[in-house]
Amino acid sequence: HHPDAARYVDAEIGARGWTWALELDRPLDAAVSTTALHYLDRDTLLATYRQLATLMRPGGVLVNGDHLPQGETGPAGIAAHVGRCRADRQRVFAHEDWGSWWAAVGEDPELADLLAERRRREALLGTGRPAELPLCAHLELLRQAGFDTAGPVWQYGDSCVVVAVR
Ligand SMILES: C[S@@+](CC[C@H](N)C(=O)[O-])C[C@H]1O[C@@H](n2cnc3c(N)ncnc32)[C@H](O)[C@@H]1O
Repeated sequence: HHPDAARYVDAEIGARGWTWALELDRPLDAAVSTTALHYLDRDTLLATYRQLATLMRPGGVLVNGDHLPQGETGPAGIAAHVGRCRADRQRVFAHEDWGSWWAAVGEDPELADLLAERRRREALLGTGRPAELPLCAHLELLRQAGFDTAGPVWQYGDSCVVVAVR
């Protein structure tokens, strides 16, 4: 409905010079991410938070909805239980799961080129994934990166929305 409202760029967050691809012409008001930043290791995450803080105007916000475990200082077992109960209530596991969703994508000819490109990139990445950093580590890195305040504004189990204000 609003083709001019968004511009898409293909960039690897954390790779050298990735913010150039954004071609920004003014400071950012907000940066928003969902379930992507947990792929980054600690050093890359800190560098990425620093870059975003630099690109953002004072008062700008970073909003990250992600899988952020409690870590050793939080009641991890209870948080996981609350998350499972909510998923049960919402019948999350009665819906299409990850495997069947991708199987359906594989059968759609219109998506064949994109799927091939996805597989090519996955092969380049390899199988190693950094350990997921807990919520407190993200908050600490956000403060180190120059955000004034950072904290969770919504949380169920390990699912969390963190807001940080520049
Ligand atoms: C779980 S999906 C979430 C997709 C979407 N944000 C959403 O909420 O539906 C995670 C996405 O992050 C992408 N991703 C992981 N690491 C990335 C990086 N360093 N730069 C850009 N995208 C990345 C993956 O390719 C994948 O598409």
